[in-house]
Amino acid sequence: MPVPVRSGGRVSGMDAGDVVRSAKWMASLRAVGSAQGLRTVRSAWRRHRVDAVGLPRQGTERARVPGPAEGAEPGPGGGVVRFARSSLRVRVTVGGAVFLGWDGAGPEPSYALAGAAPEADERAVLEPDTDGGWRVVAERALVVVSRHGMVEVRTPGGALLRRDLPPRWWEPAARSGGRGGRWVQRSQVPADARFFGLGGRSAGPRLRDGWYRLWNTDPGGAFEPGDDPLYITMPVLLTVADAGTHLVFHDTTWDGRVALWEGEEGAGSGHDRPGRCEVRMDGGPLRSWVLVGSPARVLHGWAGLTGGAAVPPAWALGYQHARWGFGSEREVRRVVAGYRERGLPLSAVHLDIDHFRGHRSFTVDRRRFPDLPGLAADLRGQGVRLVSIVDPAVKEEPGMAVYDGGVEADAFVRDVRGRVVRGEVWPGPCVFPDFTDPEVRRWWGGLYAERLVQGFSGVWHDMNEPVSFAAFGDPTLPRSARHSLEGRGGDHREAHNVYGLTMARAGYEGLRELRPDERPFLFSRSGWAGMQRYGGTWSGDVATGWPGLRASLALVLGLGLCGVPYSGPDVGGFTGFPSPELFLRWFQLGAYLPLFRTHAAITAGRREPWEFGPEVLEHAGAALRERTRLLPYFVTLAHLAQRTGAPYVRPVWWRSPEDRALRDCEDAFLLGDALLVAPVLEAGADRRAVRLPRGLWYDTATGRAHEGPGQVLLDAPLSRVPVLARAGAVVPVAGADGAVELEVWPPAPGRTGGGVLVPDAGDGWKRPDAVRFVTRWRDGVVAVEREGAAEVGFRVRLRG
Ligand code: NOJ
Repeated sequence: MPVPVRSGGRVSGMDAGDVVRSAKWMASLRAVGSAQGLRTVRSAWRRHRVDAVGLPRQGTERARVPGPAEGAEPGPGGGVVRFARSSLRVRVTVGGAVFLGWDGAGPEPSYALAGAAPEADERAVLEPDTDGGWRVVAERALVVVSRHGMVEVRTPGGALLRRDLPPRWWEPAARSGGRGGRWVQRSQVPADARFFGLGGRSAGPRLRDGWYRLWNTDPGGAFEPGDDPLYITMPVLLTVADAGTHLVFHDTTWDGRVALWEGEEGAGSGHDRPGRCEVRMDGGPLRSWVLVGSPARVLHGWAGLTGGAAVPPAWALGYQHARWGFGSEREVRRVVAGYRERGLPLSAVHLDIDHFRGHRSFTVDRRRFPDLPGLAADLRGQGVRLVSIVDPAVKEEPGMAVYDGGVEADAFVRDVRGRVVRGEVWPGPCVFPDFTDPEVRRWWGGLYAERLVQGFSGVWHDMNEPVSFAAFGDPTLPRSARHSLEGRGGDHREAHNVYGLTMARAGYEGLRELRPDERPFLFSRSGWAGMQRYGGTWSGDVATGWPGLRASLALVLGLGLCGVPYSGPDVGGFTGFPSPELFLRWFQLGAYLPLFRTHAAITAGRREPWEFGPEVLEHAGAALRERTRLLPYFVTLAHLAQRTGAPYVRPVWWRSPEDRALRDCEDAFLLGDALLVAPVLEAGADRRAVRLPRGLWYDTATGRAHEGPGQVLLDAPLSRVPVLARAGAVVPVAGADGAVELEVWPPAPGRTGGGVLVPDAGDGWKRPDAVRFVTRWRDGVVAVEREGAAEVGFRVRLRG
């Protein structure tokens, strides 16, 4: 297949990544049958033709840089520096976030921000700097702007965190006014810095040298570590260095690429090579937010900007089982009975597209699922909820209620000529709701009434990058397809990355309105900055294998650092047949991740723990019981994530970012403040090295204390993975009778410790108060006190 190339070596329609993806897609499309396979060829050509007409011609471009500074106007929080060919707005906001907007860009409109941008910090003002530039001195950061448009963000003490070189734009020569072109921003960071984030990256959590694309993509088939991009990309980069931690967010939804190069220190020679970052965007405003401080402070600030994470109902923190291809109500009952008979706790079962009639969302195949409400009620009686998949593409089929309703609401994406854009997804020829239109969101949100009537308690959004199967090229909508973009108007190049985010908003707001007394449970495969306001996500189709297990953890950690705390992998991997050992190790990791769910493709082997032999069953059962015991801790972490922005699952450097060895540690994580989990990520291991942050840590299996920082070798038999508790920690757990009790680990001699409990207040909107505990040594005994109360009020179990 010839690859269309446009002048300047840039590829339109297809690039090298697309070629590889196309091959994978072709392989995976074998599953959909030859008729549909043929239609995907047609659909790809259609997309190509639509873009040939609809995309603006490339033409000649004119490069632009800001040029020399001509003056500055102080304003709230900073001011505006005027350059010969651009301007830069600097605004430090209350709470410390720094906004930098070129060419008149302001913080709004933005799909990422939770509401209006925070107020300017009136105390911060632009003032002349020594070398003809300007600076803004603020409480948390010092911003320095040079005469040529270089911008430095430093700590209040003056240590350099990042240096943005003057940006460069390329604009169509025909257009004047300097808006709407491509741009590049190059930056430098300290030589010792490490990069994290950019959404869900399988090669993480530490992002090594290379290019990372910003274009939400279904890789087709299944992905391996290093496959890039995946379903959730975001221009959110967290940089951790000795000088400090900072997050930078380039607030534009357009397609782009980020290149990262870690730096190198000159071993005291004074010749450090700084770390470098290059952001190249195909369009959109050049504006960024910079947050500075400890990791906890930075994530707190990020949640302040983009919104607290939706708190899932407590049942969604329990273990869940999914499968593409249960195939019938009987099979669902059989699997649920399998868990019950073996005494294995199960919180929810997820039904995939095979329960729909011909794969159409919001329908039921009544031959295979004759009485879904009855099934839901029976399961509910056993403490098991039903969760439904929802795909965005609507089968183009006059007479089908959802399609007709969408036509009436004028809900479907059109091309430049005004014709509805058609694609190909599971049900066959499909059309796509434009979720960037508030009216369409309202219409779509109303459709969830049908899911509630069927008895579902939550939803699982899939295929919302969005996917349209393509035999070649990018498996999505034409880039020229038109979108409302909240009434502003624009095309798919700008709307693509927020398709999943706006669909999540539609679903969340719909559920909220339909069932106002319950917090919605929603998780979505695709999304963008701010998606946590509506729910969580999952790994997508992670390939079964040890590398996939490692990628599972990378995704959860990376997403957490981008503000999306609730996620987890397909335990066991999406494809194929995991060995019993691999399945068990995946299960043991999953037990400590927010979304704990087994799931697999229709062609893959089974994922019920008893399918892997008695030994796996025994150990998986132990992991399940431990998860259930930790539920009060998970509920607490969910509330804390919403209130503070701190993800449940944190990198081990969370509280000690200055520890360089920890920054490079990618095979363990902190679960909240109290626990350090060291999953087994390789075959045949029965011990593993664990790198400890500073302080005293107890091996929860043996009670032995280990002093950090440093590395210890711990037993990791098949029956468990190493978990350590921080000295002094108070962990809320469920006691044998289900009541919350406090597991207390003695503080180090002469030190104090503590913990928090946020009690479960049910599935409604009540905001429970956090209860705080302090631990200390008193007369040679460990004492636990509850802040603001004479009595602890909970059973205490002393460990260690
Ligand atoms: C792709 C999703 O990632 C996967 O989880 C799901 O099973 C299939 N689509 C079928 O709906």
